[in-house]
Order: sequence, then C-alpha cells, then structure tokens
Amino acid sequence: MTQVEGQAWDTIWARWASVWEARPPEPAVVDLVARLKGEGRRGVHDLGCGLGRHLLFLAAEGLDASGSDISQTAVRECCRRLRQAGLAAQVTLSDMADIQADDGSLDAVIAWDVLYHGTLAEMKGATAAIHRKLAPGGYLLATFNSVESTSCQRSREAVARGEGEELEPNTFVVPGDVDSDKALPHHYTTAGELRRELLAGFQVLSLTRHGSPKYKMSGKTHQRVVWHLLARKMER
Ligand SMILES: C[S@@+](CC[C@H](N)C(=O)[O-])C[C@H]1O[C@@H](n2cnc3c(N)ncnc32)[C@H](O)[C@@H]1O
Repeated sequence: MTQVEGQAWDTIWARWASVWEARPPEPAVVDLVARLKGEGRRGVHDLGCGLGRHLLFLAAEGLDASGSDISQTAVRECCRRLRQAGLAAQVTLSDMADIQADDGSLDAVIAWDVLYHGTLAEMKGATAAIHRKLAPGGYLLATFNSVESTSCQRSREAVARGEGEELEPNTFVVPGDVDSDKALPHHYTTAGELRRELLAGFQVLSLTRHGSPKYKMSGKTHQRVVWHLLARKMER
C-alpha cells in the first residue's frame, strides 16, 4: 500500500465522515467483546479503524484497545473522538500488514470492511500479519467482499467499457468512480478462496454470507454481499 492510497482514503473520509460517524458498532463486534470478557481476554486491535466506531466501543468496554489506519484523516479524527469521549487507546498510522503490536500479544483483531482493499497477495500479507500478532486462541473478526456483490459485476462492466482495470481475477480498480471507494483496488472473493488462500493456521468458527437490502445509487440498483468471518488462531 502506498502513501497515495492513504491520501485517497483521506479524501473519501473528508466526504463520508458525517455518514459514518453516526454508525453504531456492528452486532458481531458487540458479541465478540462479550466473548472476550467471558474468557478474560483484553488485548484487541481494530485494524482499519476509520473514525473509530468500534475502537471507541472497545475502549469504553474497558478493553486494552488499539487501532490503526492508512488514512491520516481517519487516525486524526479517531483520536479526536476518543479524547472527546474521555477514552484511551493507541491509534497508529500504518498499513494493514504492519500492525504495531508484539508478536503473539493480541487476544483479538477486528478488521471490519478493511481486508478486501487490495490484491489477494496484499490480503494474504495482512492475514499472515494478523496471525503472527495474535496469541494462541486469539480471535480474528473480519469481513470480505463477495463476488456476488453488484459492485463486482459493475466493476467488470467498467473494465469492458475501458473505464477500469482487473488487476488479477476479481480485483478491480475503477479510477473514475466518485460515488464510493472503487477507485482503489477491491478484491471480491468466495468462501472457498477464503478458506484455501487466507486462513492457514486459523480455525474457522463461523463464515456466513450477508446480503444487504437492495438500494439505488446514481440510478442503479446495488446490493452488497459480504462474508462475516470469526476465526481463532490454532493453539499449537
Ligand atoms: C470501509 S472503512 C471501515 C472503517 C471501520 N473498520 C468501520 O467499520 O467503521 C475502511 C477503512 O480501511 C482503511 N484502509 C484501507 N486500506 C488500508 C490499508 N492498506 N491499511 C490500513 N487501513 C486501510 C481505510 O482508511 C478506512 O478507514
């Protein structure tokens, strides 16, 4: 990942911050926190924390929370919101493959709507880094974009019109996209590919498909389909 991609995310956050600010923590994150507390586990890293909707929640729940993001704007805004709420968490500006924590030290990593921002090789690098940083039995909670998302097909159509590029199978960039973040690389995946390519050394606790309600944007119907993963680093 490059500084250019970090800056592109700064632009996206400048535009979308007011929409995301109001989003509550995802139910899966709330469930994970209950599970961690039940097991007496405390060290959680929010990878690609954005404006910090999950990081603020983790810190408020009394966990030993940290976060990171490639966007300076996101990191700055996340720190401001933590301060404003009187909460403490370390937030660093770094790429997803470069988590600032000792190897084997984390009880959980949350990567919500983050890991698919790149090529398959970059996703592999990030999940390998997460695996290294987790303690044995530590959790990974992550989402992945499915090939069933309408944006996968739309990106393919953009490539056919000469308005985008397929960097490798199912990884697209659509430079002219102004409605969302598709000017940056997105990888679309399947449950089979996830298990085969990304989850070595993890025990999959659940891998479930979630389709959003259909919605209209720029006159077109869209649906997001994502995989929700909860996995554990194998003990040995
Ligand atoms: C869709 S937002 C999700 C934010 C947050 N996880 C949430 O659920 O509210 C994706 C986030 O991933 C960050 N991101 C994208 N590529 C990244 C990378 N290579 N390394 C670290 N963060 C990245 C973006 O800056 C952005 O904040």
